[in-house]
Amino acid sequence: MAETQPTLDGTSPTLAPQRQITDEIVQLHAEFARREAAGEKLPATIHDFPPYRSSVLRHPTKNPKLADPEAIELVSPVFGERDLDPIEADLTLQHSGEPQGERITVRGRLLDSRGHAVPHQLIEIWQANAGGRYIHQRDQHPSPIDPNFTGAGRTITNADGEYLFTTIKPGPYPWKNHLNAWRPAHIHFSVFGSGFTQRLVTQMYFPGDPLFPLDPIYNSIHRQEDRDRLISTYDHDLTVPEFSMGYRWDIVVDGPDATWHEPDPEPAPRHASTAEGAH
Ligand SMILES: [Fe+2]
Repeated sequence: MAETQPTLDGTSPTLAPQRQITDEIVQLHAEFARREAAGEKLPATIHDFPPYRSSVLRHPTKNPKLADPEAIELVSPVFGERDLDPIEADLTLQHSGEPQGERITVRGRLLDSRGHAVPHQLIEIWQANAGGRYIHQRDQHPSPIDPNFTGAGRTITNADGEYLFTTIKPGPYPWKNHLNAWRPAHIHFSVFGSGFTQRLVTQMYFPGDPLFPLDPIYNSIHRQEDRDRLISTYDHDLTVPEFSMGYRWDIVVDGPDATWHEPDPEPAPRHASTAEGAH
């Protein structure tokens, strides 16, 4: 993608301004609502969503190939509960010092479409630091890397389908989708089923973020009710005195109340999602 700096008057010869992107989002949401009202069945997320400029280049354009899960597992890595250390669920303890930023506790349940707990499932997270910086070669924006924060963790849901992470609240960060594009603060989540072919990938947001109406990734999910399921709830009962702020976020892996996840290559539920991007 072109990385053209804005000119002195705040415009760019190649990048659309935020106002144009926001207008496109509003118009597309209205169009999708009209089409649904007319009886058309639309997916929860629109893969070819022009305000998300790079999605036009990244979303699948060919028919997916069906893969035999058992055949894949003959050559793919395997994991077991013994491979995880409980400390991996605490992203503030991975280095010799404490990371900068607001310490948070994120807790929730993994549920199926009937509201039943999904126990003993691997959940992985990755995120930017408090300043919105990832430890990633492609993230070079001028916010410091925190030497005490890597931004990756994992855990296994317990018998009640519960997970718990201790981490730092990530900051919003700029990306080059359009001029002055900033992602709302978010934590990436990956949920595995009983095998690597059942991976789902999604993002958790924080309540009240002013960037929600401006972000084309968040808004590629065209129904507000589906977007709402990606937003955690501040829960004072989860807030730990003198230690961390508490957020609750349940993940529903299928059914009508399913948390939106990144596109499935197959029509059947709970198969491998497509590769996650850097955003
Ligand atoms: Fe991200």
